[in-house]
Order: sequence, then C-alpha cells, then structure tokens
Amino acid sequence: MLTIYQARDYNELSRKAANIISAQVIMKPNAILGMATGSTPVGAYQQLIEWYQKGDLDFSKIRCVNLDEYKGLSGEHKQSYRYFMNRNLFEHINISLPNTNIPNGLAPDSEAECSRYNNAIQTLGGIDLQVLGIGGNGHIGFNEPDTDFKKETHLVALTEETRTANARFFSTVDEVPTHAYTMGIKNIMSAKRILLLATGSSKAQALYDSLYGPITPHVPASILQLHNDVIVVADDKALDMIEKKGFLK
Ligand code: GLP
Repeated sequence: MLTIYQARDYNELSRKAANIISAQVIMKPNAILGMATGSTPVGAYQQLIEWYQKGDLDFSKIRCVNLDEYKGLSGEHKQSYRYFMNRNLFEHINISLPNTNIPNGLAPDSEAECSRYNNAIQTLGGIDLQVLGIGGNGHIGFNEPDTDFKKETHLVALTEETRTANARFFSTVDEVPTHAYTMGIKNIMSAKRILLLATGSSKAQALYDSLYGPITPHVPASILQLHNDVIVVADDKALDMIEKKGFLK
C-alpha cells in the first residue's frame, strides 16, 4: 500500500516523519531502524531528539543500520555519513553506538566490506522501518540510475549529477568522493515498512517518476512501487507534479 502525507512545509514534514519513526520505537522498543542521511531527514532527527529529551522516547534497545557511506572518508571526516549520524542523532539520544551500523569508508578491501555489511544486516534480522530520502535522479541510498537493480550492499561509482548535488557540503566538487558503499535494492525492499521523505521542487519529477512511472533501474526508487507498505511524506513542492497529474485526492 502507498500512503502519501502532504506537508505544508519542512517543519510539518519533519514532525510527521518523526511521528512515524517514534511510533515504531514505541510499538517495538527493540526495532531495527534503517536510517538515511542527506538534508531531508535532519529536521525529523531534531524532533526525535526533542521528544527523547522530554522523556517520551527510549532508544536503548533500538538498533540502526544506515543506507550508505562514502568510500575513502573516515568516520571522523565531517562529510562522512558516520559523522553526520553521530552529530545529527546518535550523540543526542540513548542509543548505544555499537548498535549503530554504517559501512566503513576506510575498509581496505571493498568486497569484504560489502559482505561484512550484508551479514550485519542479515544478523540484525530484518529492518522494521527504513527511512529514505531521494536523489534528484531518483536514487535511493546511493543506488544510482543503472541498467539493472543491484541487490545487496555494493560499491558504486557516483554520477556527476550526484557528486555535484552533494558538493554543497564540501569546499569543492573535486573533494566529493567518486565512490560510495550502499545497501542494494533487495536490502531496502526487504524492510517491512518504508518511509520516503522528499522536499522541494528539485525532487518533484523524481518523486512522480518513482511512484507513478514505469518500474525501471533507470529510476531506482521506482522499485518501491512493488513494496507493500510505503509511506511518503513530502511537501507541496515535491508533490507538485503528482498533484498536477491528479494523483492526490
Ligand atoms: C544523498 C544520499 C541519499 C539521500 C539523497 C538526497 O546522496 N546518499 O541517501 O537520500 O542524496 O539528499 P538530500 O536529502 O540532501 O536531498
């Protein structure tokens, strides 16, 4: 089933997303949460921190597994996704850091790192709720447009579009890593529930193509149409095309 929640603005999007994540944490205190980076989920994470500080949420038994990480960046590098998760969420809640999983950007053997990460996901026993952002080209995690869907954790060469989009966090585009580790489509699709977040007009086309266009690896997020339980929380701008095509009732 696809459920779309329309948010007036980023603040409302963040609160709705945080409500869905916190419902999961409350209903299953030892849930496995699939986490995402990027600018989109930051507000939801801030809201979760606030509710944790009020005493409404307990993450002590929660385990997290992240979608992706840049190859070549250490966890201390300010643009690594490990650093991002620590600063934007993990350090502010009572999650135990050993219960958080992110690919190791400095692993010497990429193939070994991919199988280590696949095993880690498998050992956790299945993701209950996977949070996703979406790239302007329809990527999820770092599953870039391709001629086939990659199933499990793999090393990917980032497209120039993605490197340029992510250059805003680095001093120059040349500093953006050329490769990244990402969960594969099967890892993502195995999650029991998916929460896809999108904000801004730069995501409108990708969101429309993903939810209502043909299912194709050229738009990786389009595979979500085959998932049983997808919740989309998006703002008016990101939903603009979907609304114009008459899909929002
Ligand atoms: C990045 C990440 C994705 C993220 C996407 C959108 O490259 N690898 O996981 O969802 O791009 O990012 P943002 O939310 O900043 O638009």
